[in-house]
Amino acid sequence: MNATSTLTKDEVAILLTAATHAPSIHNTQPWRFEIHGPVVDVLLDRERTLPVADAAGRAARIGIGAAVFNLRIAAAMLGHESRLAPDPDPHHPDVVARIFLADRKTPVPELGRLYGELRRRHTYRGPMLDQVIAPRVLARLDEAAQAERATLRWLDADEASQLGELLRRVDDTELHDEDRLHERLRWIGGDRSSDGVEESALGPLPIRPAFVRDLSTGFGSTHRSQAVFEQRPNLAVLCTPQEDAAAWLRAGLALERVLLVATSYDLAASFLHQLLEHNTARAAVRELLGDRSWPQVVMRIGYPAHSGHSTSRRDWRESFDRWF
Ligand SMILES: Cc1cc2nc3c(=O)[nH]c(=O)nc-3n(C[C@H](O)[C@H](O)[C@H](O)COP(=O)(O)O)c2cc1C
Repeated sequence: MNATSTLTKDEVAILLTAATHAPSIHNTQPWRFEIHGPVVDVLLDRERTLPVADAAGRAARIGIGAAVFNLRIAAAMLGHESRLAPDPDPHHPDVVARIFLADRKTPVPELGRLYGELRRRHTYRGPMLDQVIAPRVLARLDEAAQAERATLRWLDADEASQLGELLRRVDDTELHDEDRLHERLRWIGGDRSSDGVEESALGPLPIRPAFVRDLSTGFGSTHRSQAVFEQRPNLAVLCTPQEDAAAWLRAGLALERVLLVATSYDLAASFLHQLLEHNTARAAVRELLGDRSWPQVVMRIGYPAHSGHSTSRRDWRESFDRWF
């Protein structure tokens, strides 16, 4: 493929199917795609954002970053190099990322290998086994974050306990936040076939306080089972050195790379994003970490005690705008 080549229909289907398997907050899938010859534009879909919980669009861009990472590993698997330009066009701020594809000059087997993990990765909201993650595996996860210019900051027992207290306070506030509850109703619970988080994927309700988010915040949870969660979870905060729209995109690339490497070791993850959706809580998380970096995703990572549930996706054609 050279600068003027076009992608075949099959290649487009492979690239965009991979992209749409990315995680996104509440499975909103806030992306749209346009293709111009060998160039793929990834746009923010403003109909699929969360104006209350994610007013700045940070989480939406993290999801788009994860989709971009998936697209790049699908391109690597197809034998294409990809070059990424964040926010490429000041006249079109909704174009969040532009990906230039070309013939591969040097092989990138590691990226191609991660393609095999795309469909195995799911957010897991159940209890984890009490099994230690070996230091060499933790090191692989750290390297995955660093490869995308982010860092994974693991919390020690004292920090985890402080985070737990903060979590209880935020969860309590959320219970009384009508605007957020209303916004969440559009995306969470019930049966769903193309987006949002269906009830079956919400996971069990914790019997005792745990480091897991009940996305339903209590509504529609009559059929949910209950479970005891691990008391000493592995908690990590994905951080970026900067705090702007390009950093959020990079955080998404790093997040997906970490998650796919974790999947390759049979690890699973869930998220505590409520800690970063409120400015005061996010400031407290930043203070807890005690450095100058910016917390973008709070995760619990471990070996799942049960199998998880997958969420549905729209067909890639539904988020595909134009082919020039
Ligand atoms: C930025 C971001 C924040 C998220 N926050 C949460 C969260 O707080 N709680 C949660 O259970 N899932 C959270 N998720 C996971 C999404 O709900 C999940 O990715 C989506 O439902 C698709 O499901 P899958 O990851 O199993 O493919 C988050 C995902 C992203 C990208």
